[in-house]
Amino acid sequence: MRLTVIGCGYVGLVTGACLAAAGHEVFCTDIDKKRIDLLNSGKVPIYEEHLDEVLKRATAQKKISFTDDAGEAIRAGEVIFICVGTPPKETGEADLSAIDHVARQIAREARTPKLVIEKSTVPALTGVQLQKALAAYSRGGAVKFAVASNPEFLREGTAVEDFFHPDRIVVGVESEKGAAVMREIYEPILDRKFHCPVHGGNCPKDPNAELLITTISSAELIKHASNSFLALKISYANVISDLCERIGGDVEEVTRAMGLDPRIGTQFLKAGLGFGGFCFPKDIQAFIHLAGTIGVEFDMLKAAERVNKQRIDRFFEKIHKALWVVKGKKIAVLGLAFKANTDDIRFAPALEVVRKLQEEGAEVHASDPQAIGRTREIFPHVCYHEDPYKALEGADAALICTEWKIFRTLDWEKGGRSMARRLVLDGRNLYDPKKMQQMGFEYHSFGRA
Ligand SMILES: NC(=O)c1ccc[n+]([C@@H]2O[C@H](COP(=O)([O-])OP(=O)(O)OC[C@H]3O[C@@H](n4cnc5c(N)ncnc54)[C@H](O)[C@@H]3O)[C@@H](O)[C@H]2O)c1
Repeated sequence: MRLTVIGCGYVGLVTGACLAAAGHEVFCTDIDKKRIDLLNSGKVPIYEEHLDEVLKRATAQKKISFTDDAGEAIRAGEVIFICVGTPPKETGEADLSAIDHVARQIAREARTPKLVIEKSTVPALTGVQLQKALAAYSRGGAVKFAVASNPEFLREGTAVEDFFHPDRIVVGVESEKGAAVMREIYEPILDRKFHCPVHGGNCPKDPNAELLITTISSAELIKHASNSFLALKISYANVISDLCERIGGDVEEVTRAMGLDPRIGTQFLKAGLGFGGFCFPKDIQAFIHLAGTIGVEFDMLKAAERVNKQRIDRFFEKIHKALWVVKGKKIAVLGLAFKANTDDIRFAPALEVVRKLQEEGAEVHASDPQAIGRTREIFPHVCYHEDPYKALEGADAALICTEWKIFRTLDWEKGGRSMARRLVLDGRNLYDPKKMQQMGFEYHSFGRA
């Protein structure tokens, strides 16, 4: 099938590349011409494991192309995936101006009927507005549009694997015809008819994903409800962590035991600096806002959001207690990305940590395997080091902000030798407190004695 992807960010690129690898012909476009030029020169503008390989293969097979001419891309596909950003406004409401812009563009440029799919995360009832905008801006109704919702559940860092091996594919449609088109698009994924770069032909034998056909409103709600629930889980673990600190428990022991109950599950029960990224913080806000506008109080989400915001303050309480004065101190910040295996720093807790450290007059030395380039644009006065051991040289304290494997497996004997003071404040609970103490470190983490 011929598919158009509008918006070549994390979601658009992974969607486009994986659907091309699954045999479809994909036409990608983005408002950012530099991004399109980069893609046309064979470079990938984001860091995501395996994406490079999938794109190279699809390009060699002439299954994927990139253009900054939106009209050309819109006319080329029978089906259009909208993958543009939906950032939060000051009020927490989702800013849907990019979706609106794209809707008007599609209506103006299309010459044949299209199925227009919301892949971006949008609040419930966006589908209704999208349908209205497409009809209102089309040339006197000459071209017919249908709308579908197909929320994306991929996680940055494992996005290619998630797309090829999803837990579920949710499709909100308004007609049987729409459902049939969506089934055809995802058939190669469901039947595993693609070259999997992750497992190289040895994909796990677990049952194939289920394709769930729902109404458009349900599909939109499923995405916000899922992300908000996961965010809630993280904040819950963080409150348990605060309790542990006061009572003398160990949050790692508590959450592990809780998670072994299959009704609870171990994932997203990690205490620490809290959640960041381009999904949870904005999605929880948008869900609270949506509920508020229709008279439904979602106090538990408000509490989860408040708990998350307080994590940075909790971290700084620990920093002040251990370090006393921050001004004039050399601080190593290990980890800038909002989580491991991505270069994405949007709403990353580490950025808030760096901002506060600078405000308090610290000399910040930061290291991250992928996110230095993006962070430098925001904080040009931080000293950046590819090598984490260089960041530790002469440091009065090391702050762990992202759970990268390279930090988890750091040789602290070596790192500690060059530090001015053996002080580690771990925002991700990566290390065994006893071992750190045995190595002569003053070590503080979340929810552990
Ligand atoms: N990043 C994730 O892990 C993830 C996962 C699931 C869902 N989502 C959702 O998917 C959407 C996209 O997220 P992302 O992380 O890929 O964002 P992104 O910022 O990486 O990508 C968005 C892209 O859209 C382009 N764009 C913006 N306006 C445009 C326009 N009018 N026409 C053409 N292109 C335009 C931007 O230039 C950018 O390249 C969001 O709604 C997000 O909530 C993201």
